[in-house]
Amino acid sequence: MPTNHFSGRNLSTRLGLLLAAVNTATILAHAQPTNSIPTEPANPIPTLQIKADQVTAKVSPTLYGLMTEEINYSYEGGLYGELVRNRSFKANAASAAFWNVVGNGVISLDTNQPLNSALNVSLKLDTGNASKNSAVGIANGGYWGIPVRPNTTYHASFYAKGKHFNGPLTVAIKSTNGETVYASAEVPKISGKWQKYGVTLTTGNAAPSQDNQLVISATKPGTLFNKHGEVWFQQVSLFPPTFNNRANGNRPDLMQLLADMQPAFLRFPGGNYLEGDNLKERFDWKKTVGPLEQRPGHRSPWGYWSTDGFGLPEFLGWCEDLNMEPVLAVFAGYTLKHDYVKPGPDLAPYVQDALDEIEYVTGDTNTTWGAQRARDGHPAPFKLRYVEIGNEDWFDESGSYDGRFSQFYDAIKAKYPQLQCISTVGNEQPEKKRVHSRKPDLLDEHYYRSVKDFERESPTQFEKYDRNGPKIFVGEWAAYEDIQPWNKKSEKLAPTPSFKAALGDAAWMTALERNSDLIVMQCYAPLLVNVNPGGRQWRPDLIGYDALNSFGSPSYYAQKMFSNHHGDQILATDSRDIPTNPKLFFDATRDSRTGKIILKLVNSLGTPQPVKVEISGVAAVEAEGEAVVLKADRPDDTNSIQEPDKIVPVTEKVDRLGTDFTREFPPYSITILELKAK
Ligand code: AHR
Repeated sequence: MPTNHFSGRNLSTRLGLLLAAVNTATILAHAQPTNSIPTEPANPIPTLQIKADQVTAKVSPTLYGLMTEEINYSYEGGLYGELVRNRSFKANAASAAFWNVVGNGVISLDTNQPLNSALNVSLKLDTGNASKNSAVGIANGGYWGIPVRPNTTYHASFYAKGKHFNGPLTVAIKSTNGETVYASAEVPKISGKWQKYGVTLTTGNAAPSQDNQLVISATKPGTLFNKHGEVWFQQVSLFPPTFNNRANGNRPDLMQLLADMQPAFLRFPGGNYLEGDNLKERFDWKKTVGPLEQRPGHRSPWGYWSTDGFGLPEFLGWCEDLNMEPVLAVFAGYTLKHDYVKPGPDLAPYVQDALDEIEYVTGDTNTTWGAQRARDGHPAPFKLRYVEIGNEDWFDESGSYDGRFSQFYDAIKAKYPQLQCISTVGNEQPEKKRVHSRKPDLLDEHYYRSVKDFERESPTQFEKYDRNGPKIFVGEWAAYEDIQPWNKKSEKLAPTPSFKAALGDAAWMTALERNSDLIVMQCYAPLLVNVNPGGRQWRPDLIGYDALNSFGSPSYYAQKMFSNHHGDQILATDSRDIPTNPKLFFDATRDSRTGKIILKLVNSLGTPQPVKVEISGVAAVEAEGEAVVLKADRPDDTNSIQEPDKIVPVTEKVDRLGTDFTREFPPYSITILELKAK
């Protein structure tokens, strides 16, 4: 985990944000938010008014999306189907990290037998001690285990080359203690030249487990005096079935959780992962395309190795599988540890890289990079509307962003005038950082805030924005309960948030949705976390998993509910009384095709809250409707690997609705009420 990330650059800026929040709080203490309801015990029942004949704006059809990067073992050890950890032996130059030797074999890293210039190291196994009853070999325990499921076919593959060794090799999935063999296959012959080998491994009726390993072993010592032999390995891979059976594809359970959110877009590849700690470790997209064995891999700023098996083509394939629009972030010459490239001639190659990247995504097959995409298996261009220039460039103290943004903007608009350019410096930043010589089409704003801050800011945060200014992309946000994500103390908490955070998220989402004429896209971050010790670098995270299981946090379900029920028209709303302690949050939208009015109401109080709802501007509302409710007994309750479904939405039929009704909303609850209006 890059501790300096938490304590260094983020801390100072976030202290600034904190101060800003404190100031905002002071102002709000005197404000009269219109979208929260009074909760003073002495007050009459809070009254919420929906003015169905006043459509204030359209709900942005791209409002709900996903943000992702290689953090928390999101792809490697997460979404990416690969089960072998450190398959190319480059995670650590000094030793074969995550690899074990089997029996009396001897293993070592060898830079003298590279597969090629990208995978320029290999794992050597000395087979000299092998015998019929005592195998030698190499073993990999995956990312905190290798998942075994019953009656499942896995594909194992590897490059190998022998010297005085010509096989056979046995490839097996075994329990870590070696006692149970779940599946096994033989590669009969190994050549003296690098060659790729593959086998399929099918498990029987085994119970699901993850305390397992992949083992490749030999029982013959070698051909030199029948004693000595050596075999080198590279790119040792094991894939389970993937979502849509995509080759080099993704883990089905995680993909299903994401599909269920119905996301409209995917912001990738970062986040800090786009930037890298330094220029060499940026997301250099050209090294993430083409055959897997030609991708050298690189270190992620989150402290671990990425093989780049999950590269640009895989991001795009992911978009295709979930019908998401790509929001492509291009490296813009600034890194996490403050390296930057001066605007002008120095920056020109990076600008060209971005143009090439756009060509890879959108170009015809008769263009250089469109042709590469076709060779990578996707002749059809992808639809692209948004290009984000950098990530969090407000951290850049050199003042170079305006120049860098302008240079990218001019080049992109000249070649692709239809594309919209997103600046990473938003309204939340101090004025001196908000210098834009070119007017960005959108501003990417990030909000990692406490529940309290979100509750306080939700009613008014975006009401104050200039509607003639650039549109807003809330490209990263999450509510944390009390401890900031960049505070070391957060490492002691569960990686996924509690219901308390989900309440803060939902309050915030009522604001995002109500203002979605301005906020055209938003996405929670980070999306994924491997919950094993050492798996997480940031919390809170939306979806947790280990090698075998996965679960959505309460925040995940809040997201899913909002995304699945949003209609296309924002309706004017009001509350009758002046709130002094807003703990109820709401917004109302309509699906213009069905006429359904969708009321979202968040009750953060620990007591049931009766609310009077008055709907004007419609002839009638049917007595029967539907409610989707997410609630918890205690705000600290949450989901986990052990209790994945402790807090999940429940859909129920509701009656006694109308244009004027009172309903009691449960303590600690998020409710979506669908009203059939005529
Ligand atoms: O979401 C975690 C990190 O927070 C992102 O990588 C970065 O953009 C932000 O600082």
